[in-house]
Amino acid sequence: MMRQAGRYLPEYREVRARYPSFLDLCYTPDAATEVTLQPIRRFGFDAAILFSDILVVPDALGQPVRFEQGEGPRLAPLSGGADIAALTPERIASHLSPVFETVERVRAGLPDEVTLLGFCGAPWTVATYMIAGQGTPDQRPARMMAYGEPELFQQLIDILVEASADYLIRQLRAGADAIQIFDTWAGVLDEDGFRRWAIEPTRRIIDTVRAEIPGTRVIGFPRGAGVRARAYVEGTGIDAIGLDWTMPVAFARDTLQPVTAVQGNVDPLALLSGGKALDESVDRILETLSAGRLIFNLGHGILPETPIAHVESMLDRVRKGTG
Ligand code: CP3
Repeated sequence: MMRQAGRYLPEYREVRARYPSFLDLCYTPDAATEVTLQPIRRFGFDAAILFSDILVVPDALGQPVRFEQGEGPRLAPLSGGADIAALTPERIASHLSPVFETVERVRAGLPDEVTLLGFCGAPWTVATYMIAGQGTPDQRPARMMAYGEPELFQQLIDILVEASADYLIRQLRAGADAIQIFDTWAGVLDEDGFRRWAIEPTRRIIDTVRAEIPGTRVIGFPRGAGVRARAYVEGTGIDAIGLDWTMPVAFARDTLQPVTAVQGNVDPLALLSGGKALDESVDRILETLSAGRLIFNLGHGILPETPIAHVESMLDRVRKGTG
């Protein structure tokens, strides 16, 4: 599942309550290991995803991140060239060493056949938070900088490419089996921006990682890419694409599965709702996509209020459907 750890699990809330600051939980290897393993113990998933956040990268770059209860992330917004020049990609190794320790511990605690996914945010998506200082409905501050000051914006993207590649290489060396790159806001970019700010930086990260660790498997999640999904697959060199819930499964079968594995794509609200709509969504995905390469998943992160019984019912149906 996407964001399989999290507030829908009582065992997560119990650990989370001991860490008033979310980032403290991310930076405490014992606790981060525990919450990474919880969903695997409960549900027996085929893969675990490291418990961390995409915003630990700006935190390491010297732009401190806080998570306000119920409001999401807060950072001091980057305001110009001097702020960007002051970022510190050389601090990835030291600042994020607890994350690499978590990866080591999780790998040691997982059964051999369970894959461990490392991850990072794509430069574009991380930049949207760094420039706005928080989540925004339309990513307007970053889009305005990309149009108005493209050279300055490119400098920020270049720093994020370097930092993200370093971060992923260190996760892989610590024991991650594959990596996932989350480009949650890729869909808001126009044609030129999508190529320049979503595809290109992700391709450069993947090339750098594979130059260091050949054969690294990568899952990309360009949310909202729609008809541009195939260009994204071919332009970045990913091995599998995460599909958001709006992607028609017949399009994925005909256009994407011939060139890549697909992952997805139940609507988190269908899972919240449960019942017939959820069953139909699960069946449609299995019927259309399971003749090709499919990783069954949600189309975005699970919502905190999701009943565990709905998750169990979805898993039963998938496991029966795929034998
Ligand atoms: O499965 C997992 O839990 C893996 C760890 C993980 C988290 N965030 C933990 C988290 C992963 C892979 C992410 C990715 C992430 N973080 C993305 C990309 C994927 C996506 O969902 O679009 C983005 C955009 C973020 C940034 C972020 N982190 C936001 C906007 C928020 C606040 C959201 C909210 O609903 O409050 C977070 C917080 C966050 N990251 C939580 C978790 C478990 C909730 C923290 C809590 O317990 O209070």
